[in-house]
Amino acid sequence: FERANRPKPLAGKHAIVTSGPTREPIDPVRFLSNASSGKQGVAIAEALAALGARVSFVTGPAQYRQPRGCAVIDVETAIEMDRAVEAALPADIAVFCAAVSDWRVETPADDKIKKDADETAPTLTLVANPDILRRVSSLAGGNRPRLVVGFAAETSNLLENAKAKLKRKGCDWLLANDVSPASGTFGGANNTVTLLAGEAVEAWEPMDKQAVAQKLATRIAESFQRDRR
Ligand code: CTP
Ligand code: CA
Repeated sequence: FERANRPKPLAGKHAIVTSGPTREPIDPVRFLSNASSGKQGVAIAEALAALGARVSFVTGPAQYRQPRGCAVIDVETAIEMDRAVEAALPADIAVFCAAVSDWRVETPADDKIKKDADETAPTLTLVANPDILRRVSSLAGGNRPRLVVGFAAETSNLLENAKAKLKRKGCDWLLANDVSPASGTFGGANNTVTLLAGEAVEAWEPMDKQAVAQKLATRIAESFQRDRR
């Protein structure tokens, strides 16, 4: 009852959330990927949906459960994720939680790579993947979501790197995330996050990923309500 009566400040808004790792093939049985669990993305998708947004959840192959009440679009590679985000547009809100592989193998082998008789290791040639956040941030006019939020996973010089990243990506907000091994972020329950919004810098106390998601969703709803006035 209480749930049904909660205000829905994001009713009528469409949000795209990317989440999880991407998986870049080396050959039919091997790939490059990373340890992203998808937990934070699921929590953000559900928090936005709880405030009334229609959520398109674009996810790479993640271990964690899928978000409730969202349209789930499964992808593997960064290129597929980029296309799925493009297909999901237009949107009012886009939150990029995915740990997109920065590189892919230029030419994945059609067959499983075999060990050489003399055991020399193969050389993988990598090429850059599309930067989905930067591309969406730079979309012209009506095609650009009104609020574009990125995450910055950093293991050192958190603030410095995050400020540079906010500029480089062209997004509106950046959540800088301390993923140093000591922070216990990767795969763990807690996140230590700093919100950069334009020139404003706001350090959030360490909290679980659920709480980060709720705080972010509330902030997003507030920003849309401010804009309406
Ligand atoms: N991102 C993206 N597409 C990519 C790479 C990153 O959409 N190809 C998004 C991520 O989802 C995240 C933000 O960009 O929201 C920052 O990702 P991050 O890996 O921290 O930034 P990079 O620019 O890739 O820089 P680096 O990995 O060198 O720190
Ligand atoms: Ca990266």
